Amino acid sequence: MRARTERDEVSKDLSVGLTKPLCFLIVFVIGIVIGLVSSSHIDRYFTSQPYNLNGDRESIPPNSPSTSSITNDETCTTTTNIVTSCVKEDCLSMKSFLSPKNLSHGMTDDELFWRASMVPEKAQYPFDRMPKLAFMFLTRGPLPFMPLWERFFKGQDVKKYTIYVHTNPEFELGVSNSSVFYNRQIPSQDVKWGTVSLVDAERRLLSNALLDFSNERFILLSESCIPIYNFQTIHNYLTNSIYSFLDSYDDPSRYGRGRYNRRMKPAIRIRDWRKGSQWFEMNRALAIKIISDTKYYDLFKRYCTEDCYPDEHYMPTFVHMFYEELNADRTVTFVDWSIGGAHPASFEGRDITKRFLKSLRKNGTSCLYNKGTTDVCYLFARKFGPSSLEPLLEISSEVFEY
Ligand SMILES: *[C@@H]1O[C@H](CO)[C@@H](O)[C@H](O)[C@H]1NC(C)=O
Ligand SMILES: *[C@@H]1O[C@H](CO)[C@@H](O)[C@H](O)[C@H]1NC(C)=O
Ligand SMILES: *[C@@H]1O[C@H](CO)[C@@H](O)[C@H](O)[C@H]1NC(C)=O
Repeated sequence: MRARTERDEVSKDLSVGLTKPLCFLIVFVIGIVIGLVSSSHIDRYFTSQPYNLNGDRESIPPNSPSTSSITNDETCTTTTNIVTSCVKEDCLSMKSFLSPKNLSHGMTDDELFWRASMVPEKAQYPFDRMPKLAFMFLTRGPLPFMPLWERFFKGQDVKKYTIYVHTNPEFELGVSNSSVFYNRQIPSQDVKWGTVSLVDAERRLLSNALLDFSNERFILLSESCIPIYNFQTIHNYLTNSIYSFLDSYDDPSRYGRGRYNRRMKPAIRIRDWRKGSQWFEMNRALAIKIISDTKYYDLFKRYCTEDCYPDEHYMPTFVHMFYEELNADRTVTFVDWSIGGAHPASFEGRDITKRFLKSLRKNGTSCLYNKGTTDVCYLFARKFGPSSLEPLLEISSEVFEY
């Protein structure tokens, strides 16, 4: 029994051993044939593709030199005016891409915010990037402290700062071409204080400033704000800070939580609700997050209306909910609320003394800065009335060092 079984198995093995190579051979040959046929198809498909897609190019032979240069050069030399000027100006120049030379543009807010939200994926810049401060002035009309600001910017490296001014749309700053404010008005829209249009103006300022890829820190300023340190100190302070300076706190009173609207639930719960001064300072990363948001902005636009003041709640709440780790939770713009009431103290000419101004710079309190502390808490101060300009100009070089 055992022997026969063994022999049967041997003969089975033999026949299998013979058929196997034969099968392989057949499969192999069929494979080659299929391969050859299909590859010739692919070949023809790819080489003929460009000409078949574009009827008018069909006559161009595949190896004609002109086919390899269907590039910008060729399209740019067509006769239409736009394209011709394109060739002269180099439409893809890095210079105009990195920093638009003219602030006027015809973009809608939607288009502008979208463009401003672009973030380079590549970490290394192909140019020397000096981090700039963007000074963004939000004002209805004139800037009464312009002479003080001119002094502040005088002699500073223009590669370290930019200025943007949002005014009433019909207002013209009307400054001479020697001023740092010359041609710095952005396309503006009407702002009604206490409404979401104020947030729109802030986001419009941020977006225009974001179009300059070197802008790294964004400072919102009013017409009554003044700098209380010199440019170099402020530049160092802000560009070396790992945090943004945005006021954001929980106010249980009717001026804080009292303004919350329950229709914002569940996206925004009352425990998320924050309040803070609108005069922020923030870095590029946070600025991009803020102008890219639609969901929370829309909720504020719809539900933060009657006696709510979106400018005091939208950014503080949004940043608290999602970007707390980027924020120092304090402001660098001094304001005096100690008199009580709905408006902060306003400083006039008679208030301007060396002692008072020095106390704004340092009053013995220390503030968190990066992982440590500093005795410099404020870089800017408000609110100053026009009558304080003259005395400020008189003592700014001694007290403010500019
Ligand atoms: C900027 O563009 C506007 C309109 O396109 C033009 O009127 C203005 O003169 C330009 N300004 C500069 C400085 O080129
Ligand atoms: C500035 O304006 C003056 C007078 O209006 C003019 O002569 C001068 O060429 C202008 N300079 C520049 C750089 O535009
Ligand atoms: C200094 O300023 C801070 C913030 O405004 C305030 O809380 C503190 O009381 C002031 N300290 C002194 C000694 O005036």
